[in-house]
Amino acid sequence: MNAEMFRARKGLEGVIFDETAISDVIPERQTLLYRGYPVAALAEQCRFEEVAYLLLRGELPAPESLTAFTDFERHNRSLDDGTLRVLRESPAGHHPMDSLRTAVSFMSMSLPSPGPEDHAALLRSSELLFAKMPTMVAADYRLRQGKAPVPPRPDLSLAENFFSMCFEQVPGPDLVKAFDASLTLYAEHGFNASTFTARVVASSLSDLGSAVTAAIGSLKGPLHGGANEAVMAMLTEIESPDRARDWVLGALADRRKIMGFGHRVYRLGDSRVPTMKTYRDRVAQATGDSRWIAISDIVEQTVLEQKGIPANLDFPAGPTYALLGFDSPMFTPIFAMARVTGWCAHVMEQLSSNRIVRPLSAYVGPQERPVPPPRDRPA
Ligand code: COA
Repeated sequence: MNAEMFRARKGLEGVIFDETAISDVIPERQTLLYRGYPVAALAEQCRFEEVAYLLLRGELPAPESLTAFTDFERHNRSLDDGTLRVLRESPAGHHPMDSLRTAVSFMSMSLPSPGPEDHAALLRSSELLFAKMPTMVAADYRLRQGKAPVPPRPDLSLAENFFSMCFEQVPGPDLVKAFDASLTLYAEHGFNASTFTARVVASSLSDLGSAVTAAIGSLKGPLHGGANEAVMAMLTEIESPDRARDWVLGALADRRKIMGFGHRVYRLGDSRVPTMKTYRDRVAQATGDSRWIAISDIVEQTVLEQKGIPANLDFPAGPTYALLGFDSPMFTPIFAMARVTGWCAHVMEQLSSNRIVRPLSAYVGPQERPVPPPRDRPA
């Protein structure tokens, strides 16, 4: 093997790890395709359930297939008593990504554990996770507030039902659409860290529940999904537009990263940001609250001017969720209940032509040496 093969590729930058037919990130055109369809058009023209079907099953559904898919989703939203108990017994002050991770891990013990050749059973387990994760997120939100969980309503769409389970009411169609579109934008994005995690776990022929549980753990970090919560913490700390520029200048002078900016793949700009900003602005208009947008605009201008780094999806998504009434620890769990569609699609794809993921390391520790007798060992 030559020296180049032993050079560590930190963060796997530039490494093509496998093929995929699920999504195509095209940074030079700031475009993202889900199975060939531009994500902006999907967010505008389709409901999230259709996009979930597309990701999990490969094509957009015909009307009768969509009905069967949504019927299954609507009638499998409820949680078993054990999973509800796990949520109830989460320690006070827990982060909802931790309770979601634990609830998914617990609940998936009851999922069938099909082998890689049983695609139909894998799909069924994926669709059960898709149906139940929003209920977990909403129930945990209610319990954190000292309130009883609200049972899911099968007469409502996924997005409407999520509002109903959190707030006991459904907002107007414009707000529901903004939320629904955000789920589409969050659903899938190539070999991002959590998806890669899910594929690595699946590649050892472990089970779907383990892959999704591990992916939730990966998504939680602020360099990945946790950034949408961190964006809101930043906007809240900045507090008012007149403080925004100095706040950013100070953070950059301290060599701190500005959350919601930068991306490993997009250097020109994130394909999903223009669509998310459109919906964010509509929500701000509908709620009559433009404070977060005013602060966001100055932060964005300043980061661009100082560093030339564009915003990513988490930057407009965070304030959109705040305006819709969600508390910020819930933002990343919302991301997870959308991204589970991508994770499951990738687990199935990995298993359809599997090879265990097992990279090499470039060893930089001590050269081979004899084990010293106990009296000569360092303290
Ligand atoms: N704020 C300030 N500087 C940033 C930055 C940010 N958000 N993102 C990247 N940079 C700078 C780095 O400091 C580094 O500068 P240097 O070369 O002078 O040290 C350079 O840009 C490259 O950044 P790096 O962290 O090596 O890029 P990466 O590809 O490894 O990381 C992210 C990509 C997304 C993890 C990174 O941009 C980041 O941490 N962003 C903030 C968190 C976030 O929003 N995550 C959600 C991603 S969708």
